[in-house]
Amino acid sequence: MKLIVVSNREPYRVETSRGRGRLEKTVGGLVSALEPILRKEGGVWICWGRKGQKTPLETRITEDFLMKQVPLTSNDVSEYYYGFSNETLWPLCHMFLNRTHFDSRYWLGYRRVNRKFARAVSEVYTPGSKILVNDYQLALVPKLLKEQGIEDTIYMFWHIPFPPYFMLRFLPQRREILEGMLGADVIGFHTQHYVHNFQECARDILGALYDDDTIYWNGRKIKVRAIPIGIDVERWERLTSEPKVVKYARNLRKKLGVEYVGIGVDRLDYTKGLEEKFRGIGRFFEKYPSFRGKVSFIQIAAPTRTRLEDYMDIKRKTDEIVGMIEGKFGEPGWVPIYYYYKNYRDERLASLYMVADFALVTPLIDGLNLVSKEYVASKRDNDGVLILSEFAGVSVQLMDGALIVNPFDEEAIAEAIYMALKMRKRERRERMEMLKKKVVNEDIHWWLKNFLKDVSA
Ligand code: G6P
Repeated sequence: MKLIVVSNREPYRVETSRGRGRLEKTVGGLVSALEPILRKEGGVWICWGRKGQKTPLETRITEDFLMKQVPLTSNDVSEYYYGFSNETLWPLCHMFLNRTHFDSRYWLGYRRVNRKFARAVSEVYTPGSKILVNDYQLALVPKLLKEQGIEDTIYMFWHIPFPPYFMLRFLPQRREILEGMLGADVIGFHTQHYVHNFQECARDILGALYDDDTIYWNGRKIKVRAIPIGIDVERWERLTSEPKVVKYARNLRKKLGVEYVGIGVDRLDYTKGLEEKFRGIGRFFEKYPSFRGKVSFIQIAAPTRTRLEDYMDIKRKTDEIVGMIEGKFGEPGWVPIYYYYKNYRDERLASLYMVADFALVTPLIDGLNLVSKEYVASKRDNDGVLILSEFAGVSVQLMDGALIVNPFDEEAIAEAIYMALKMRKRERRERMEMLKKKVVNEDIHWWLKNFLKDVSA
Protein backbone atom coordinates (compact mmCIF):
# COMPACT_ATOMS: atom_id res chain seq x y z
CA MET A 1 0.00 0.00 0.00
CA LYS A 2 1.31 3.41 -0.95
CA LEU A 3 0.35 6.53 1.02
CA ILE A 4 -0.07 9.77 -0.91
CA VAL A 5 -0.20 12.83 1.32
CA VAL A 6 -1.39 16.11 -0.15
CA SER A 7 -0.89 19.36 1.76
CA ASN A 8 -0.18 22.96 0.93
CA ARG A 9 2.92 23.19 3.13
CA GLU A 10 5.99 21.17 2.31
CA PRO A 11 7.47 18.51 4.65
CA TYR A 12 11.04 19.58 3.82
CA ARG A 13 12.63 22.83 2.91
CA VAL A 14 15.63 22.67 0.66
CA GLU A 15 18.27 24.92 2.23
CA THR A 16 21.10 25.86 -0.07
CA SER A 17 24.41 27.01 1.26
CA ARG A 18 27.53 27.40 -0.86
CA GLY A 19 25.71 25.89 -3.84
CA ARG A 20 24.83 22.68 -2.01
CA GLY A 21 21.25 21.73 -1.14
CA ARG A 22 20.35 20.30 2.25
CA LEU A 23 16.92 19.02 3.29
CA GLU A 24 15.54 20.55 6.47
CA LYS A 25 12.43 18.90 7.90
CA THR A 26 9.70 21.46 8.58
CA VAL A 27 8.09 21.52 12.01
CA GLY A 28 4.43 20.70 12.48
CA GLY A 29 1.97 18.06 13.63
CA LEU A 30 1.28 16.58 10.24
CA VAL A 31 4.93 16.28 9.29
CA SER A 32 5.97 14.60 12.54
CA ALA A 33 3.05 12.17 12.17
CA LEU A 34 3.41 11.17 8.58
CA GLU A 35 7.05 11.62 7.72
CA PRO A 36 8.20 8.50 9.61
CA ILE A 37 5.44 6.41 7.97
CA LEU A 38 6.44 7.53 4.50
CA ARG A 39 10.08 6.86 5.28
CA LYS A 40 9.25 3.38 6.51
CA GLU A 41 6.58 2.29 4.08
CA GLY A 42 7.19 4.53 1.10
CA GLY A 43 4.84 6.99 -0.53
CA VAL A 44 4.59 10.45 -1.99
CA TRP A 45 4.10 13.86 -0.40
CA ILE A 46 2.60 16.42 -2.73
CA CYS A 47 2.95 20.07 -1.69
CA TRP A 48 3.45 23.55 -3.08
CA GLY A 49 6.58 24.46 -4.97
CA ARG A 50 9.16 27.14 -4.64
CA LYS A 51 9.01 30.54 -6.22
CA GLY A 52 10.15 30.62 -9.81
CA GLN A 53 9.99 26.85 -10.21
CA LYS A 54 8.47 25.94 -13.59
CA THR A 55 8.16 22.16 -13.61
CA PRO A 56 7.12 19.73 -10.86
CA LEU A 57 10.14 19.31 -8.69
CA GLU A 58 10.69 15.80 -7.44
CA THR A 59 12.98 15.19 -4.51
CA ARG A 60 13.73 11.63 -3.53
CA ILE A 61 13.87 11.45 0.27
CA THR A 62 14.45 7.70 0.36
CA GLU A 63 14.28 5.11 -2.38
CA ASP A 64 10.50 4.78 -1.90
CA PHE A 65 9.61 8.21 -0.57
CA LEU A 66 9.19 11.07 -2.96
CA MET A 67 8.40 14.73 -2.31
CA LYS A 68 6.69 16.23 -5.33
CA GLN A 69 6.28 20.00 -5.43
CA VAL A 70 3.59 21.60 -7.54
CA PRO A 71 4.92 24.68 -9.32
CA LEU A 72 2.92 27.83 -8.56
CA THR A 73 3.13 31.17 -10.35
CA SER A 74 3.12 34.38 -8.36
CA ASN A 75 -0.52 34.89 -9.43
CA ASP A 76 -1.31 31.43 -8.06
CA VAL A 77 0.27 32.31 -4.73
CA SER A 78 -1.59 35.65 -4.55
CA GLU A 79 -4.99 34.32 -5.53
CA TYR A 80 -4.98 30.78 -4.17
CA TYR A 81 -2.85 31.08 -1.02
CA TYR A 82 -3.11 34.68 0.15
CA GLY A 83 -6.46 35.24 -1.55
CA PHE A 84 -9.07 32.52 -1.37
CA SER A 85 -7.36 30.37 1.29
CA ASN A 86 -6.32 33.09 3.70
CA GLU A 87 -8.53 36.09 2.94
CA THR A 88 -11.74 34.15 2.31
CA LEU A 89 -11.87 30.66 3.80
CA TRP A 90 -9.62 31.24 6.83
CA PRO A 91 -11.52 34.25 8.24
CA LEU A 92 -14.93 32.81 7.30
CA CYS A 93 -14.23 29.48 9.01
CA HIS A 94 -12.96 31.35 12.08
CA MET A 95 -16.15 33.46 12.09
CA PHE A 96 -14.47 36.77 11.23
CA LEU A 97 -16.97 37.93 8.64
CA ASN A 98 -15.62 41.49 8.80
CA ARG A 99 -12.19 40.24 7.69
CA THR A 100 -13.56 37.97 4.94
CA HIS A 101 -12.88 39.18 1.39
CA PHE A 102 -14.93 37.90 -1.51
CA ASP A 103 -13.21 38.27 -4.86
CA SER A 104 -14.01 36.17 -7.92
CA ARG A 105 -10.34 36.25 -9.04
CA TYR A 106 -9.37 34.56 -5.78
CA TRP A 107 -11.84 31.78 -6.52
CA LEU A 108 -10.51 31.24 -10.05
CA GLY A 109 -6.97 31.02 -8.70
CA TYR A 110 -8.06 28.59 -5.98
CA ARG A 111 -9.79 26.34 -8.52
CA ARG A 112 -6.80 26.47 -10.84
CA VAL A 113 -4.31 25.49 -8.13
CA ASN A 114 -6.56 22.75 -6.73
CA ARG A 115 -6.61 21.28 -10.25
CA LYS A 116 -2.81 21.43 -10.38
CA PHE A 117 -2.62 19.50 -7.12
CA ALA A 118 -5.15 16.90 -8.34
CA ARG A 119 -3.15 16.45 -11.55
CA ALA A 120 0.02 15.94 -9.55
CA VAL A 121 -1.74 13.20 -7.55
CA SER A 122 -2.89 11.40 -10.70
CA GLU A 123 0.69 11.44 -12.00
CA VAL A 124 1.92 9.37 -9.06
CA TYR A 125 -1.19 7.39 -8.23
CA THR A 126 -1.25 3.62 -8.66
CA PRO A 127 -4.26 1.47 -7.69
CA GLY A 128 -4.09 0.33 -4.08
CA SER A 129 -2.80 3.71 -2.84
CA LYS A 130 -4.31 5.53 0.07
CA ILE A 131 -4.74 9.28 -0.40
CA LEU A 132 -4.84 11.84 2.43
CA VAL A 133 -5.76 15.40 1.44
CA ASN A 134 -5.21 18.08 4.06
CA ASP A 135 -6.98 21.25 4.97
CA TYR A 136 -8.92 24.20 3.64
CA GLN A 137 -6.40 25.15 0.93
CA LEU A 138 -7.30 21.98 -0.97
CA ALA A 139 -11.04 21.49 -0.51
CA LEU A 140 -11.70 20.76 -4.19
CA VAL A 141 -9.05 18.07 -4.56
CA PRO A 142 -11.09 15.06 -3.30
CA LYS A 143 -13.85 15.57 -5.89
CA LEU A 144 -11.34 16.18 -8.68
CA LEU A 145 -9.66 12.89 -7.78
CA LYS A 146 -12.96 11.00 -7.81
CA GLU A 147 -13.66 12.49 -11.26
CA GLN A 148 -10.32 11.14 -12.44
CA GLY A 149 -11.69 7.68 -11.66
CA ILE A 150 -9.68 6.99 -8.51
CA GLU A 151 -11.48 4.23 -6.66
CA ASP A 152 -9.26 3.82 -3.61
CA THR A 153 -10.29 5.42 -0.34
CA ILE A 154 -9.74 9.17 -0.29
CA TYR A 155 -9.29 10.70 3.16
CA MET A 156 -9.62 14.39 3.86
CA PHE A 157 -8.71 16.09 7.13
CA TRP A 158 -9.95 19.61 7.85
CA HIS A 159 -7.56 21.15 10.39
CA ILE A 160 -9.40 24.42 11.13
CA PRO A 161 -12.90 25.04 12.53
CA PHE A 162 -15.75 24.14 10.21
CA PRO A 163 -18.27 27.00 10.35
CA PRO A 164 -21.98 26.68 11.02
CA TYR A 165 -24.49 27.06 8.20
CA PHE A 166 -25.27 30.70 9.05
CA MET A 167 -21.61 31.58 8.26
CA LEU A 168 -20.89 29.29 5.31
CA ARG A 169 -23.99 30.52 3.50
CA PHE A 170 -22.29 33.89 2.92
CA LEU A 171 -19.74 32.21 0.67
CA PRO A 172 -20.71 32.42 -3.01
CA GLN A 173 -18.89 29.12 -3.66
CA ARG A 174 -20.38 27.27 -0.68
CA ARG A 175 -21.76 24.45 -2.87
CA GLU A 176 -18.48 23.89 -4.68
CA ILE A 177 -16.52 23.74 -1.42
CA LEU A 178 -18.88 21.19 0.12
CA GLU A 179 -19.08 19.10 -3.06
CA GLY A 180 -15.30 19.21 -3.36
CA MET A 181 -14.84 17.85 0.15
CA LEU A 182 -17.55 15.23 -0.30
CA GLY A 183 -15.45 13.69 -3.05
CA ALA A 184 -13.57 12.09 -0.12
CA ASP A 185 -14.74 8.82 1.42
CA VAL A 186 -13.72 9.76 4.96
CA ILE A 187 -13.63 13.34 6.26
CA GLY A 188 -12.03 14.11 9.62
CA PHE A 189 -12.43 17.12 11.90
CA HIS A 190 -10.98 17.91 15.33
CA THR A 191 -14.30 18.07 17.22
CA GLN A 192 -17.84 16.74 17.11
CA HIS A 193 -19.01 20.34 16.95
CA TYR A 194 -17.29 20.86 13.56
CA VAL A 195 -18.67 17.51 12.34
CA HIS A 196 -22.12 18.68 13.25
CA ASN A 197 -21.65 22.02 11.44
CA PHE A 198 -20.45 20.17 8.36
CA GLN A 199 -23.40 17.77 8.41
CA GLU A 200 -25.85 20.64 8.72
CA CYS A 201 -24.20 22.56 5.88
CA ALA A 202 -24.34 19.45 3.68
CA ARG A 203 -28.03 19.08 4.50
CA ASP A 204 -29.05 22.74 4.22
CA ILE A 205 -26.92 23.70 1.23
CA LEU A 206 -26.80 20.48 -0.79
CA GLY A 207 -29.88 18.65 0.46
CA ALA A 208 -27.74 15.69 1.61
CA LEU A 209 -29.00 13.32 4.32
CA TYR A 210 -26.99 12.26 7.34
CA ASP A 211 -27.02 10.10 10.44
CA ASP A 212 -24.42 9.74 13.24
CA ASP A 213 -21.26 9.40 11.23
CA THR A 214 -22.36 9.12 7.61
CA ILE A 215 -23.47 11.61 4.97
CA TYR A 216 -25.57 10.23 2.11
CA TRP A 217 -24.89 12.22 -1.04
CA ASN A 218 -25.19 11.49 -4.73
CA GLY A 219 -25.66 7.76 -4.13
CA ARG A 220 -22.50 7.61 -2.00
CA LYS A 221 -21.82 7.19 1.70
CA ILE A 222 -19.22 9.49 3.19
CA LYS A 223 -17.93 8.91 6.72
CA VAL A 224 -17.43 11.98 8.90
CA ARG A 225 -15.45 11.64 12.09
CA ALA A 226 -14.25 13.78 15.00
CA ILE A 227 -10.71 12.79 15.75
CA PRO A 228 -8.35 15.44 17.12
CA ILE A 229 -4.75 15.28 15.97
CA GLY A 230 -2.11 14.50 18.60
CA ILE A 231 1.57 15.33 19.01
CA ASP A 232 4.68 13.21 18.96
CA VAL A 233 4.96 13.03 22.76
CA GLU A 234 8.17 11.00 22.72
CA ARG A 235 9.87 13.67 20.69
CA TRP A 236 9.01 16.38 23.26
CA GLU A 237 10.14 14.10 26.07
CA ARG A 238 13.40 13.55 24.23
CA LEU A 239 13.87 17.27 23.63
CA THR A 240 13.24 18.18 27.26
CA SER A 241 15.82 15.70 28.45
CA GLU A 242 18.57 16.97 26.17
CA PRO A 243 21.33 18.51 28.32
CA LYS A 244 21.54 21.71 26.27
CA VAL A 245 17.78 22.25 26.45
CA VAL A 246 17.78 21.72 30.22
CA LYS A 247 20.81 23.99 30.64
CA TYR A 248 19.24 26.80 28.62
CA ALA A 249 16.09 26.56 30.73
CA ARG A 250 18.04 26.69 33.97
CA ASN A 251 20.10 29.71 32.90
CA LEU A 252 17.07 31.54 31.58
CA ARG A 253 15.22 31.10 34.85
CA LYS A 254 18.18 32.63 36.68
CA LYS A 255 18.49 35.52 34.27
CA LEU A 256 14.81 36.40 34.43
CA GLY A 257 15.15 36.80 38.18
CA VAL A 258 11.43 36.58 38.95
CA GLU A 259 9.40 34.15 41.05
CA TYR A 260 6.96 33.18 38.32
CA VAL A 261 7.16 32.86 34.55
CA GLY A 262 4.31 32.55 32.04
CA ILE A 263 4.57 31.49 28.40
CA GLY A 264 2.56 32.00 25.22
CA VAL A 265 3.47 30.68 21.74
CA ASP A 266 1.30 31.61 18.78
CA ARG A 267 1.49 32.50 15.12
CA LEU A 268 0.74 36.23 14.95
CA ASP A 269 -2.78 35.74 13.68
CA TYR A 270 -5.91 37.71 14.61
CA THR A 271 -7.58 34.43 15.62
CA LYS A 272 -5.05 33.89 18.39
CA GLY A 273 -6.37 36.61 20.70
CA LEU A 274 -3.02 38.20 21.54
CA GLU A 275 -4.49 41.65 22.18
CA GLU A 276 -7.06 40.22 24.54
CA LYS A 277 -4.41 38.10 26.25
CA PHE A 278 -2.22 41.15 26.90
CA ARG A 279 -5.22 43.10 28.20
CA GLY A 280 -5.85 40.21 30.60
CA ILE A 281 -2.22 40.34 31.77
CA GLY A 282 -2.49 44.13 32.22
CA ARG A 283 -5.67 43.67 34.23
CA PHE A 284 -3.88 41.10 36.41
CA PHE A 285 -1.10 43.54 37.32
CA GLU A 286 -3.67 46.24 37.97
CA LYS A 287 -5.77 44.06 40.26
CA TYR A 288 -2.92 42.34 42.07
CA PRO A 289 -0.13 44.91 42.46
CA SER A 290 1.75 42.68 44.93
CA PHE A 291 2.71 40.50 41.92
CA ARG A 292 4.40 43.37 40.08
CA GLY A 293 8.09 42.63 39.87
CA LYS A 294 7.46 38.95 40.60
CA VAL A 295 5.91 37.64 37.36
CA SER A 296 7.22 37.92 33.80
CA PHE A 297 5.39 36.70 30.77
CA ILE A 298 7.20 35.53 27.61
CA GLN A 299 5.25 35.68 24.37
CA ILE A 300 6.54 34.24 21.11
CA ALA A 301 4.58 35.54 18.12
CA ALA A 302 5.65 33.79 14.91
CA PRO A 303 5.33 35.92 11.75
CA THR A 304 2.80 34.51 9.29
CA ARG A 305 1.02 35.63 6.06
CA THR A 306 2.75 38.99 6.50
CA ARG A 307 1.68 40.32 3.10
CA LEU A 308 -1.94 40.58 4.18
CA GLU A 309 -3.32 43.83 5.60
CA ASP A 310 -5.17 42.04 8.42
CA TYR A 311 -1.90 40.55 9.61
CA MET A 312 -0.11 43.90 9.46
CA ASP A 313 -3.01 45.36 11.40
CA ILE A 314 -2.81 42.79 14.17
CA LYS A 315 0.95 43.30 14.36
CA ARG A 316 0.50 47.06 14.88
CA LYS A 317 -2.12 46.50 17.54
CA THR A 318 -0.08 43.90 19.40
CA ASP A 319 3.07 46.05 19.34
CA GLU A 320 1.03 48.92 20.70
CA ILE A 321 -0.54 47.09 23.59
CA VAL A 322 2.72 45.43 24.66
CA GLY A 323 4.26 48.93 24.69
CA MET A 324 1.35 50.23 26.75
CA ILE A 325 1.76 47.53 29.38
CA GLU A 326 5.54 47.99 29.56
CA GLY A 327 5.05 51.73 29.91
CA LYS A 328 2.38 51.45 32.56
CA PHE A 329 3.70 48.66 34.78
CA GLY A 330 7.35 48.04 33.86
CA GLU A 331 10.13 49.28 36.13
CA PRO A 332 13.90 49.29 35.90
CA GLY A 333 14.95 45.71 36.61
CA TRP A 334 11.60 44.14 35.76
CA VAL A 335 9.90 43.43 32.43
CA PRO A 336 6.23 42.37 32.62
CA ILE A 337 6.05 41.03 29.03
CA TYR A 338 8.97 39.80 26.93
CA TYR A 339 7.63 39.83 23.40
CA TYR A 340 9.41 38.23 20.42
CA TYR A 341 8.15 38.51 16.87
CA LYS A 342 10.11 35.67 15.31
CA ASN A 343 10.21 31.93 14.74
CA TYR A 344 11.82 29.66 17.29
CA ARG A 345 12.95 26.11 16.80
CA ASP A 346 11.41 23.39 18.92
CA GLU A 347 14.59 23.01 21.04
CA ARG A 348 14.20 26.59 22.24
CA LEU A 349 10.45 26.26 22.72
CA ALA A 350 11.03 23.14 24.81
CA SER A 351 13.28 25.15 27.16
CA LEU A 352 10.69 27.91 27.42
CA TYR A 353 7.92 25.44 28.21
CA MET A 354 10.13 23.89 30.90
CA VAL A 355 10.73 27.27 32.51
CA ALA A 356 7.10 28.37 32.50
CA ASP A 357 4.97 28.00 35.62
CA PHE A 358 1.89 28.60 33.54
CA ALA A 359 0.94 28.78 29.86
CA LEU A 360 -1.65 31.15 28.45
CA VAL A 361 -3.26 29.55 25.40
CA THR A 362 -6.16 31.87 24.71
CA PRO A 363 -7.14 31.92 21.02
CA LEU A 364 -10.47 33.57 20.21
CA ILE A 365 -11.18 30.49 18.11
CA ASP A 366 -8.82 27.73 17.03
CA GLY A 367 -9.29 24.47 15.12
CA LEU A 368 -7.42 22.53 17.81
CA ASN A 369 -4.17 24.09 19.18
CA LEU A 370 -1.08 21.97 19.54
CA VAL A 371 0.90 24.42 21.73
CA SER A 372 -1.20 23.37 24.73
CA LYS A 373 -0.25 19.73 24.12
CA GLU A 374 3.42 20.60 23.67
CA TYR A 375 3.44 22.51 26.96
CA VAL A 376 1.94 19.52 28.77
CA ALA A 377 4.34 17.04 27.14
CA SER A 378 7.31 19.23 28.13
CA LYS A 379 6.35 19.27 31.81
CA ARG A 380 8.35 16.26 32.87
CA ASP A 381 7.94 17.13 36.55
CA ASN A 382 4.15 17.43 36.14
CA ASP A 383 4.29 20.91 37.59
CA GLY A 384 2.69 23.75 35.68
CA VAL A 385 -0.73 25.20 34.96
CA LEU A 386 -2.42 25.39 31.58
CA ILE A 387 -4.83 28.30 31.10
CA LEU A 388 -6.90 27.46 28.04
CA SER A 389 -9.51 29.16 25.89
CA GLU A 390 -12.87 27.45 25.81
CA PHE A 391 -12.93 28.19 22.06
CA ALA A 392 -9.85 26.16 21.17
CA GLY A 393 -10.93 22.77 19.78
CA VAL A 394 -8.49 21.13 22.19
CA SER A 395 -10.54 22.30 25.21
CA VAL A 396 -12.83 19.30 24.61
CA GLN A 397 -9.88 17.01 25.39
CA LEU A 398 -8.17 19.11 28.07
CA MET A 399 -11.04 20.70 29.98
CA ASP A 400 -10.55 18.54 33.09
CA GLY A 401 -7.01 19.56 33.91
CA ALA A 402 -6.82 23.08 32.47
CA LEU A 403 -8.18 26.36 33.82
CA ILE A 404 -10.75 27.18 31.14
CA VAL A 405 -11.36 30.84 30.26
CA ASN A 406 -13.40 32.89 27.86
CA PRO A 407 -10.63 34.65 25.87
CA PHE A 408 -12.78 37.75 25.34
CA ASP A 409 -13.03 38.26 29.10
CA GLU A 410 -9.93 40.06 30.38
CA GLU A 411 -11.24 39.77 33.94
CA ALA A 412 -11.39 35.97 33.59
CA ILE A 413 -7.82 35.85 32.20
CA ALA A 414 -6.57 37.98 35.11
CA GLU A 415 -8.35 35.73 37.64
CA ALA A 416 -7.02 32.55 36.01
CA ILE A 417 -3.43 33.87 36.24
CA TYR A 418 -4.02 34.66 39.90
CA MET A 419 -5.46 31.16 40.52
CA ALA A 420 -2.55 29.54 38.70
CA LEU A 421 -0.02 31.39 40.87
CA LYS A 422 -1.88 30.66 44.09
CA MET A 423 -2.58 27.02 43.29
CA ARG A 424 -1.14 24.47 45.69
CA LYS A 425 1.52 22.15 44.37
CA ARG A 426 -0.72 19.10 44.88
CA GLU A 427 -3.53 20.50 42.76
CA ARG A 428 -1.05 21.59 40.08
CA ARG A 429 0.25 18.04 39.89
CA GLU A 430 -3.17 16.42 39.86
CA ARG A 431 -4.32 18.67 37.06
CA MET A 432 -1.13 18.19 35.05
CA GLU A 433 -1.36 14.41 35.47
CA MET A 434 -4.88 14.47 34.02
CA LEU A 435 -3.67 16.54 31.08
CA LYS A 436 -0.66 14.30 30.55
CA LYS A 437 -2.80 11.20 30.40
CA LYS A 438 -4.92 12.68 27.63
CA VAL A 439 -1.96 14.03 25.64
CA VAL A 440 -0.05 10.75 25.92
CA ASN A 441 -3.00 8.43 25.20
CA GLU A 442 -4.27 10.48 22.29
CA ASP A 443 -0.95 11.19 20.67
CA ILE A 444 -0.05 11.31 17.01
CA HIS A 445 0.13 7.53 16.62
CA TRP A 446 -3.35 7.17 18.11
CA TRP A 447 -4.65 9.76 15.61
CA LEU A 448 -3.04 8.10 12.67
CA LYS A 449 -4.19 4.64 13.62
CA ASN A 450 -7.76 5.75 14.16
CA PHE A 451 -8.10 8.10 11.26
CA LEU A 452 -6.39 6.10 8.57
CA LYS A 453 -7.53 2.86 10.18
CA ASP A 454 -5.40 0.27 8.41
CA VAL A 455 -2.24 2.35 7.88
CA SER A 456 0.19 1.06 10.47
CA ALA A 457 1.73 3.71 12.71
C1 G6P B 1 -2.96 26.30 10.32
C2 G6P B 1 -3.49 25.53 9.10
C3 G6P B 1 -2.37 24.91 8.31
C4 G6P B 1 -1.32 25.95 8.00
C5 G6P B 1 -0.82 26.60 9.29
C6 G6P B 1 0.24 27.68 9.06
O1 G6P B 1 -2.50 25.42 11.28
O2 G6P B 1 -4.42 24.56 9.52
O3 G6P B 1 -2.88 24.36 7.10
O4 G6P B 1 -0.24 25.37 7.28
O5 G6P B 1 -1.92 27.19 9.94
O6 G6P B 1 -0.19 28.62 8.14
P1 G6P B 1 0.62 28.92 6.79
O7 G6P B 1 -0.29 29.83 6.00
O8 G6P B 1 1.86 29.58 7.25
O9 G6P B 1 0.86 27.60 6.12
